[in-house]
Amino acid sequence: MATIRTENLNYTYGIGTPFEKTAINNINIEIKPGSLVGIIGHTGSGKSTLIQHFNGLLKPTSGKIYIDDVDIWENKKNIRDVRFKVGLVFQYPEYQIFEDSVFRDVAFGPKNMGLDEEQIKQRVTNALESVGLPLSYLDRSPFELSGGEKRRVAIAGVMAMQPEVLILDEPTAGLDPRGRDTVFSLIKDYHKKTQCTVLLVSHSMEDIAKYADTLLVMNNSEVFCYDKTVSVFEKSEEIQQMGLDVPQITRVFNELKKRGVNIGEEIYTVNYAKKLVLEYLGKAGEKSC
Ligand SMILES: Nc1ncnc2c1ncn2[C@@H]1O[C@H](COP(=O)(O)OP(=O)(O)O)[C@@H](O)[C@H]1O
Ligand SMILES: [Mg+2]
Repeated sequence: MATIRTENLNYTYGIGTPFEKTAINNINIEIKPGSLVGIIGHTGSGKSTLIQHFNGLLKPTSGKIYIDDVDIWENKKNIRDVRFKVGLVFQYPEYQIFEDSVFRDVAFGPKNMGLDEEQIKQRVTNALESVGLPLSYLDRSPFELSGGEKRRVAIAGVMAMQPEVLILDEPTAGLDPRGRDTVFSLIKDYHKKTQCTVLLVSHSMEDIAKYADTLLVMNNSEVFCYDKTVSVFEKSEEIQQMGLDVPQITRVFNELKKRGVNIGEEIYTVNYAKKLVLEYLGKAGEKSC
């Protein structure tokens, strides 16, 4: 069973206006339960439009979306459940914080779900731990926190709803490299701990390749490929041609291969590269003895 499945999904903005734009075209994908999928593509390729369909925020112009094998638009009453099942963290979510304490902000979702006070408290505490913020922050105003901390509070607000699927749209946009690593690691840990399905949108291949087991590459409103991360990197030249940066380390090894030094294929993390280089040097050493 797929957690999310789409069938010929299309969405067009501004139908009948001069600004008409088909943002996603004929999308057919299946997302397996428990996977960590990276969604990448250049700006304007349709990533945000696609994920807003997964929790019923956008209604397809045509085509279908199934969550746990239920067509979510078959009965409009389903949509409320879908919003709780599939949690969406928007890009720059900190702009949507409005409560005057961290506790109230993170508790907003669980309250809407109709949970009792004790359950809400438990969920807020767990979520704050998941984003690595101390419980002493609960009484503080979110507005006096740093940008990175505010973002983590906003992410905690969605985690507190304990969705079956957690979707994050460019969760590290605008953060410095350390902030980026922190946010990515906490998402990875959360995925490992909860075993829930996580969809991570990014326009940076460099970042996402380290974390996602599967990649969905969008190009001009369509799926360019959807496969295991390793297999997607077999197409790294084409991906570069569509304006996406493949990781620096991948480019180095592709260039070496062109020059006759073939150390290995589909290298996209520095750690893996190090292992292969050491193996290669070891072999070279043996030969010269
Ligand atoms: N609210 C909107 N109204 C009209 N066009 C939109 C709107 N949102 C996005 N688009 C257009 O749809 C296309 C896909 O956008 P989007 O899904 O935001 O891509 P991405 O998230 O990959 O940058 C782009 O051409 C964009 O300009
Ligand atoms: Mg976007």
